[in-house]
Amino acid sequence: MIIHRKEYFFFGSDFTEIKILYSIEICTLHLPLENAVNFKIAVVSPCIIIIKRLFMENLNINKFRKIAPLTDGFARKLDYLRVSITDKCNLRCNYCMPAEGVEFLKHDEVLRNEEFIYFIDIFANLGVRKVRFTGGEPLLRKGFTDILTGTRDKHPDIELCITTNGILLDEVLDDLKRLNVRKLNISLDSMSRQGFLQIARRDYFDRVISNIEKTLEMDFFDVKINSVLHHDILKELNDFIEYFKNRNVTLRFIEKMPFPHLDNQKELNSDDLTAALEKIGRIERNNKEDTRVAVMYDLIYRNNKIKIGIIPPMTHCFCSQCNRLRLTCDGFLRTCLHSDTEYDLKTPYRMDMGDEAVEKIIKQAVLEKPKKHNFECDIYSGNVCSSITKNRTMSKIGG
Ligand code: GTP
Ligand code: 5AD
Ligand code: SF4
Repeated sequence: MIIHRKEYFFFGSDFTEIKILYSIEICTLHLPLENAVNFKIAVVSPCIIIIKRLFMENLNINKFRKIAPLTDGFARKLDYLRVSITDKCNLRCNYCMPAEGVEFLKHDEVLRNEEFIYFIDIFANLGVRKVRFTGGEPLLRKGFTDILTGTRDKHPDIELCITTNGILLDEVLDDLKRLNVRKLNISLDSMSRQGFLQIARRDYFDRVISNIEKTLEMDFFDVKINSVLHHDILKELNDFIEYFKNRNVTLRFIEKMPFPHLDNQKELNSDDLTAALEKIGRIERNNKEDTRVAVMYDLIYRNNKIKIGIIPPMTHCFCSQCNRLRLTCDGFLRTCLHSDTEYDLKTPYRMDMGDEAVEKIIKQAVLEKPKKHNFECDIYSGNVCSSITKNRTMSKIGG
């Protein structure tokens, strides 16, 4: 009998959880770890006691210390880290950046590749199980695959994901597959070259479509297409559905959130979208597929079932289920997308204050995570307003 990866729970001891890769062959248990022990047992069932004794006697138990997930003041488990690895972008989407662009951070303010790997390691050791790389545009970051490789080497079982605009995807697809980075969320706000240009202010529509094709051809990635809701999208909804109808993707539509320096006008909300989808096909709620932010539907359209996700931060607050932390590319921890409170992790690291000092700041920040976002006013009631996030554009937070 071969069993790969299994969790053992040892109650009432210093180390309550051990993750090991092992194989059991009738009477022999192999532990192919760095400090592996290999011993004979008569039957499998009492082996837990034997392992416990052997570990306590022979191994560095601290290595197998229980990882309790970070838990905030509202009992939310925070096991998902979004890492913005650059504030640079090759698009200027109107819901994210002002037309004139933004001032980019100076080179030495931004974390170096090994610093990203260090911080991700710290978070993973504090219980983070999923890391999503965002930007700006993450694929613009020099040495991005080095960051992925360094992270993967340290944490083979962590889920690594990317949110990208897709322009440079073809250059990294093979690396992503090799490093088992499966979850790719690709932004696409229009199904026409003109519409794309109008929103993104750059003419990359053909390239993004071609890269989405290349990604899907590899039949390896879990692909979500992200579109921010805007009035003109209703005219293009049919084109989205037609194009993706028999492709293995989830189409997700996101309510636009207000940010500083943007023309935060009233836009479509999730009800407008579901009403428009009902005119195209039969729409069925599929709550089994819901994520913490997306409400899922199946759209039955000409004998196809299309997976649709709606992300409604403006009309439906999903903060009570939030499991997110954010690391900015200049080394600050943000515990909420919409709160300006930031915790400096870079300075203690660069001052060589040690892992414990960094961990202490993270734990304190987690305890102070806000209960929910608090937009100053509701743009969906027709008001014009800006978000309470004053200090950064979305491109400097990473969505
Ligand atoms: P999955 O792993 O596929 O669930 O990805 P995700 O939805 O976490 O990641 P993605 O980067 O695709 O996020 C989609 C969009 O949802 C973001 O770009 C934001 O617009 C919005 N969003 C993500 N996280 C938050 C959040 O914590 N709060 C709010 N209000 N909106 C968020
Ligand atoms: N509102 C909602 N989503 C936004 N994004 C960027 N700006 C906004 C905004 N104002 C999201 C887009 C994009 C991701 C990088 O960030 O979904 O896919
Ligand atoms: Fe979490 Fe803040 Fe987003 Fe709410 S707004 S879901 S608390 S990050």
